[in-house]
Amino acid sequence: MKSSKPTKSITGVSPRPEVERMQGYKAPLEGRRNLLRLDFNENTLGPSPHVVEALRNIPSHHISIYPEYDGLREAVTDNLNAKKRYVPIRPEQVGVFNGVDAAIHAIFHAYGDRDDQLVTTTPTFGYYTPCAHMQGMKILAFPYEGGNYNFPTQKISTALSEYKPKLLLICNPNNPTGTTIPAQQIIKFANTSPNTLVVVDELYEAFLGESVLQEVDLDSTPNLIILRSLSKTAGLAGLRIGFAIGNNNVINRINRVVGPYDVNSFAVIAALAALKDQVYVDSYVKEVLIARDWIKKQLFKSGRRYHLEGGNYLLVWPKQDPFQVEASLKAAGVLVRNMKGKPLIDGALRVSIGTSNQMKQFWEAFINSDRV
Ligand SMILES: Cc1ncc(COP(=O)(O)O)c(C=O)c1O
Repeated sequence: MKSSKPTKSITGVSPRPEVERMQGYKAPLEGRRNLLRLDFNENTLGPSPHVVEALRNIPSHHISIYPEYDGLREAVTDNLNAKKRYVPIRPEQVGVFNGVDAAIHAIFHAYGDRDDQLVTTTPTFGYYTPCAHMQGMKILAFPYEGGNYNFPTQKISTALSEYKPKLLLICNPNNPTGTTIPAQQIIKFANTSPNTLVVVDELYEAFLGESVLQEVDLDSTPNLIILRSLSKTAGLAGLRIGFAIGNNNVINRINRVVGPYDVNSFAVIAALAALKDQVYVDSYVKEVLIARDWIKKQLFKSGRRYHLEGGNYLLVWPKQDPFQVEASLKAAGVLVRNMKGKPLIDGALRVSIGTSNQMKQFWEAFINSDRV
């Protein structure tokens, strides 16, 4: 964060100095509709047909009344507990938010005070930084290590005991490096740092198949929060719904800083249908994993530098100028994300992994765009 003095707003009313100094999170969202969208790690096929049907059946009066949330937290716990858990999750341990972005914002708002510390990694998901800055927090970001972008376990352990930060944020698998860290290590961080709230962003957990939720008891590890979303696997990114799972006291505090109707009725109806159709999500994930193996082989054979680990995305360093390759891919109907300016991965393109057919379409366009 720049340490420049806050400038006076043109209205004569100054926002908080933290807001005046910070930069908002911007994403290139416009004009994506008719292209192959491999730029936001979204589900590339769309939601389950049951979700679409449930949305179509919404009566018009539903629009004029405030949303109802009854049964939603139970549906989340039923869905999560269907997988074997060390300790089953209870509804009061679930918070429902307008996307995981809103959960992240609320966690910082509830827990991050001016001059408190956030410990995290770099490069990682871009929304953590503005959330810390808007609270006036200090950020200690440890780089991923070596050519494989390994998790900086030792450095984070030392930082936890030395600085006793308010928040530790771990994206597992990490967006954009795909780096993974064992669930037991995360639980150890939480248990050895009781005064730090450990937040694990598990947006891409389905592509890893391993979660802290399977191994933690949230009653005896009350300083751990796990974030899950229906954006990436269930295909509800446009409706905005995500969950924070943690000790009921922590969830209660985070819920105090959000509005009473922040999650809309359409998202609730869609979420209930999506949570019931886990088969659809599982088969999508399976398809992505097959495509991931295929594209990995092509990258290896092509001799290009690439990195691919835990999520539904990969990094590739084109031989030609990345901006030119990105533009040429766009002209061929394929969107990818340029990692320009991101520490350690400048020069790479991040490519979301969709179905096998979509990856074939990408690869053909990529090879044509990045001629050697
Ligand atoms: C790591 C990570 N966390 C959170 C989000 C936001 O998720 P949601 O759509 O649920 O707000 C994203 C979206 O790209 C992400 O990559």
